[in-house]
Amino acid sequence: MRIVRSVSELRSAIAGCKSIGLVPTMGALHEGHLELMRRARDENELVVVSLFVNPTQFGPNEDFTKYPRQEGVDVSLAESVGVDIIFAPPVEEVYPLRLVTISVAEITSLFEGAVRPGHFAGVATVVGKLFHMCQPHRAYFGLKDLQQCAVIQAMVTDLWLPIELKFVEIVRESHGLARSSRNEYLNPEDRQKAGAIYATLVDCAAAIQRTKSSSIELEKARIKLTSQGFGVDYLELVNPDSMQPIDQPDEKSRLIVCARLGGVRLLDNISCAITN
Ligand code: PAJ
Repeated sequence: MRIVRSVSELRSAIAGCKSIGLVPTMGALHEGHLELMRRARDENELVVVSLFVNPTQFGPNEDFTKYPRQEGVDVSLAESVGVDIIFAPPVEEVYPLRLVTISVAEITSLFEGAVRPGHFAGVATVVGKLFHMCQPHRAYFGLKDLQQCAVIQAMVTDLWLPIELKFVEIVRESHGLARSSRNEYLNPEDRQKAGAIYATLVDCAAAIQRTKSSSIELEKARIKLTSQGFGVDYLELVNPDSMQPIDQPDEKSRLIVCARLGGVRLLDNISCAITN
C-alpha cells in the first residue's frame, strides 16, 4: 500500500488503471468505513481511500481542530482490508485558491442542511474535488449519511460526472446503534441506551408498511424516543432522492431520524419501502 499526499503523485499512481474505486473518508476509521472499502476491493482493480478532514464542511461552532485524527491506525486498518492507495493531502493541496464552491439546492434545505448551514456545500465541493483528482470509475458512500448520498447523487447527475455511485447499507453495533465516530462521545450507559433508536425505527417502519400511512406512526415513535430521554430533532418518512417528507410509503421511501442523547446528535435511517 502507498500513502500519497499530492495530486500529481496520486495521478501517476493511478495512471492507466481501468477500474478505480474511491472511498472518501475523514479518517477515524471504524467498521462502517471498512465495509465500504471491502465493497470497493471486491469491485475494482485499484482501491483509493482518501483521509482528509475537510475544513469547509465544519460550521463555526463545530470544532474542526478537535475532529479525531489517527493516521497511523487508519493506515493499518485500510491495509488490513486490501486498500492500494491512501490519499492524505494537506489542506492547501485540496484548496489551492478557495475560489470554487459546489452547492446543491433544495435537497440541502432540510434536516442536516437546516441545522448546519454550508455543511453540504462543503461536502459537495470536497467530493467534487476528490472525484477530479482521482477520476474513479466507482465511488462508495454509506447510507448512514442519507442526505449526503442524495447531495452527491444530485451533483453527479447534474454535472454529468462519469462515476458510478455505490451506496452501502449501514453497519451497526450488535445492539443496533449505527456505527459512527460520534458514538465515542457517548458514555457507556448512553451508548447502550442508544440502541433504542434503531429498535424504534424498525417498529415504526413495520407499522407504516402495514398501515400505508405515516403521520400517526411517526408521532408515536417521536413520543416513544422522547419518553426514553432522547431529544428528537426530526423523525420523518422521506423520498431518499429529494429528501422531501412524504406521507405514504412507496418503493423507495426511508425513515430518517436525528436523536440527541447526552449532547450527541445521532443520525440513523432505515428502508421503509413497500412494493405495490
Ligand atoms: P466520514 O464521516 O469519515 O464517512 C466516510 C463514509 O463512511 C461516508 O460515506 C459515511 O456515510 C460512511 N459511513 C460512516 N458510518 C457508516 C456506517 N455505520 N455504515 C456504513 N457507512 C458508514 O462522510 C464523510 O466522512 C465526509 O462527509 C466525506 C464524504 C468524506 C467528505 O468530506
